[in-house]
Order: sequence, then structure tokens, then C-alpha cells
Amino acid sequence: MADEYDVVILGGGTGGYVAALRASQLGLKVAMVEKDKLGGTCLHRGCIPSKALLRSAEVYQQTKNSNEFGIEIGSPEINFSKIQDRKNSIMDKLHQGVEGLIKKGKIDVYHGFGRILGPSIFSPLPGTISVEYDNGDENTMIVPKFVLIATGSRPSTLSGLNTDGVKILNSDDALQLEELPGSILIIGAGVIGVEWASMLTDLEVKVTVLEYASRILPTEDEEIAKEVEKQLTNKGVTFIKNAKVIPDTVKKDNDVIVHAEISGNQEMFSAEKMLISVGREANTENIGLENTEIRVENGVIATNEFYQTKESHIYAIGDVIGGMQLAHVASHEGIVAVEHMANQNPIPIEYNHVPSCIYSSPEAASVGITEEQAKKKGYDYKIGKFPFAAIGKALVYGETEGFVKVISDKKTDDILGIHMVGPQVTDMISEAGLAQFLDATAWEIGQTIHPHPTLSEILREGALAVDGLQIHG
Ligand code: NAI
Repeated sequence: MADEYDVVILGGGTGGYVAALRASQLGLKVAMVEKDKLGGTCLHRGCIPSKALLRSAEVYQQTKNSNEFGIEIGSPEINFSKIQDRKNSIMDKLHQGVEGLIKKGKIDVYHGFGRILGPSIFSPLPGTISVEYDNGDENTMIVPKFVLIATGSRPSTLSGLNTDGVKILNSDDALQLEELPGSILIIGAGVIGVEWASMLTDLEVKVTVLEYASRILPTEDEEIAKEVEKQLTNKGVTFIKNAKVIPDTVKKDNDVIVHAEISGNQEMFSAEKMLISVGREANTENIGLENTEIRVENGVIATNEFYQTKESHIYAIGDVIGGMQLAHVASHEGIVAVEHMANQNPIPIEYNHVPSCIYSSPEAASVGITEEQAKKKGYDYKIGKFPFAAIGKALVYGETEGFVKVISDKKTDDILGIHMVGPQVTDMISEAGLAQFLDATAWEIGQTIHPHPTLSEILREGALAVDGLQIHG
């Protein structure tokens, strides 16, 4: 006899397990199918481990430069295996936390590979999910009223260029490095490439980044990307833009060698390791979509604003539906999806209000559209900019580079975008997200009293600067 559930969730990553917890709060009977550990990419192969390594790199740099603060401690040394141990213990602790929450929520977890067997909602029979186990145990059949696909994504590569986990790495492999290489070639200057470039250069690795586009971080506001590039270049990262990597020129000897086409000429690059960070692709294979009406378009599953697919009892959220491939987006999509299943009338997500963050040093963070997008969309806009150099706490903190940029619609005073680069901006961007959620204008942010001295004063000054009202600039 198959087990019956209100909802079966395929995938126990940040999207899936948060959806499971919310569904359980709503009184639904929930099962989750996960082939690996609960916590998914964010906890085991993404956000958390990479941020742990970035933090160690930051502490190393701060220690190295502690003289500036009047603290003399000689020259610090990097113990990379301890850095990795610290990262692993953070992951373990958080993993235990997730396991505990799932247990408390009385959510059944099936540790195997889940597949939708159909039939579709149009059939008089209920749909079924099979769970296959690695150890050959017999399949389990589970029958849900609703299914939530939260199977996430995996690193993609360039066609003709395969990672080997040793010399040619993707971000999953890089997180497992046992030793720091002397040098690395990073292919792709998106979020992952830039975070790794920042971390590795801070840990004294010689970093060269090859980027296909004419600038790094092609989807960020151009001025912000330029500031990140300037600061990373000053630390020693070499960025080569407009570089078309030629996969079949890759050779692995002592070093990895690759040629790239730059302005019509071929140039050779070599380093001890190569990291491919050219995007991620959705995990849509082998989950039984062929047994449903759902089709994969442009590599992802299409949904409506409540995350229903073509089969209204099957929902999909997170990286597998494309869009903003961010953990906090996946988890909120999961909440909206299960609230919709439970007839709770959730508010659809306004993606323009979602913060996105880059945890490099300098950090960058944004909400809403870039200046280039505002221009393209034909907005008549005004801009307020304010530098960290004029913020007292930034001097105290010892980090005065970077700025905030607020873009507002001249006609309506609506905020179109807020972009920040500099110290602690990945935490401070939440205020911009709240302002957008509450439909605040730049004037309203400017009238909000910010504590002094704090780094957060920069957003108030930037907002005031939209109408030329900034106090300290
Ligand atoms: P991405 O899409 O952000 O960037 C890929 C970069 O590779 C682009 O700059 C692109 O122009 C470049 N590229 C593509 N083909 C190339 C080629 N043949 N040669 C050279 N460059 C090439 O992808 P990324 O950085 O791998 O990140 C994947 C996803 O994970 C993104 O959606 C990102 O937002 C998310 N993520 C978010 C993080 C965060 O929130 N802090 C951290 C890490 C990842």
C-alpha cells in the first residue's frame, strides 16, 4: 500500500525544505524526497561553504593589515586545511539544524531519487511518485495530492570542456580543494567567478579571469561592476574581457593551458588549476516530466506566479524554474507555492524587490533595475550617489572605498533600483528591500533617522542625494 501525502516535495535544498516546513505549519501532511543531504546546494556546495571560505580570506587580510589599526602581530600564515575544517564544521552544524527542524515538523524524508510516474491530473487516477534507492532497496511508491519540484541546478560547463575535479574544476570541486593552488584561471566573471577571484587573491593565489562579455558582472549596474573590478584589480586579480575561450585548445600538463580569442587574436593562458564558472543548469532530467504535460523550455520549467506548472497540482520552484537563481528566492517561492496549495492567498513575489548579493571583497548588493535597464526601458530617471569615504563609521571600520547609488523615477518618485558596493553592503541591502516592499520613495528613506555612526547612514545620504539634499557631500 502506497503512503499518501498532501504534498510530496522533490528535493530537500533551501527551496524544498523551507517549503516543507511551511507546509507542515499549515497542517499539510508532507514528504520530502532527497537523494543526498538535506540543505542542498546552498548549504553543502554553495552559499554557506563559499561564504565561510571568504570570511577566512577576509580575516587573513585584516590580520595582515592589522598594523593600520595599531595592532602588531607579525606576519600571519594561512593554514588551508584548518580553513576547510572550519567551513565543514559550519556546514555540519547547519545541517544538523535543518535535520532537527524537519523532524520537529514531522516531515517524512525519503532518502532516494524521486520520479513522477504520472498519470496527470487529467486522469481519473491520482499521481504517484517513486523513490529509488542507491543500495538497490525496493522502490517506494508515494501518492500525493500535490507535488512540488525543487530539484535545483548544477554547474554548467562550456561545450567541449569537461571538468575533471583535479585540474579543471567547477565550483563544487573548488570547495573541496585540499590545498591552495599557486595560480588559477577562472573562466567567467559572473557572481561565482568574482567571489572566487576575490577569495583566492586574498589567500595569495595568482588569479586570472577570462570573461566572454565586455565587462565583469554583466548583469550588475555598470558603475558597480567597474568599482568591483577596480578594487579586485588593485588586489592583484587580472581580468581579461572579451575573451572567447577555445575549449579544444585545453591541455593538461603540470599546468592547465588554454587559448582564448581576444580581438581576433589567439592568446595562451596557463595556471595550476582552472575553475569554470559560466552559469548553472536546471536539474530537470529523469524526474519523470515525460509522464506529465510539463515541458522544459529554455532549460527550465515554466510556472505561473503561484508556481503551478502546466499540471496545476504539480508546482515547481527555485533554480529549476530559472530566473533569479538565489537561495532566498527559492525558499520564498516554496512558501508561496505551498500557501497556494493550502488556499492561503499568498502574495506573488515582486522580483524587482528581491535583493541580490555578491560576497566578494568589496561586497556588492542590489535591489531593482540597473541604470542601463532604466535607460533601455525609457524611464526619465534621477540618481543619488554617495561615497563611503564621507561616512564616519567607514573610516573607523577602515574601509572607505565604494558607494551607494539610488535610481528614482523623475515622474513618480518611485525607486527603480538601489545598488551598493563596499563594506557590509550585503547586510545593508535588506533596508532597500524593505523600502521597496513598502513602496517608499527616496525622500522617505531620507527622512528615516539612521543611527550615527553607522555604515547604514550611506543609504540615507544616497537617498537624499537623489534630490541634491545630502548633508555630508
Ligand atoms: P553567471 O551567469 O552569474 O555568470 C557567468 C559568467 O560567465 C558571465 O559573466 C558570462 O558572461 C561568462 N561566460 C559565459 N560563457 C563564457 C565563456 N565561454 N568564456 C568566458 N566567460 C563566459 O553564473 P555563475 O557565476 O556561474 O553563477 C551561477 C548562478 O549562481 C547565478 O545565477 C548566480 O546568481 C548564483 N550564485 C549566487 C551567489 C550569490 O547570491 N552570492 C553566489 C554564487 C552563485
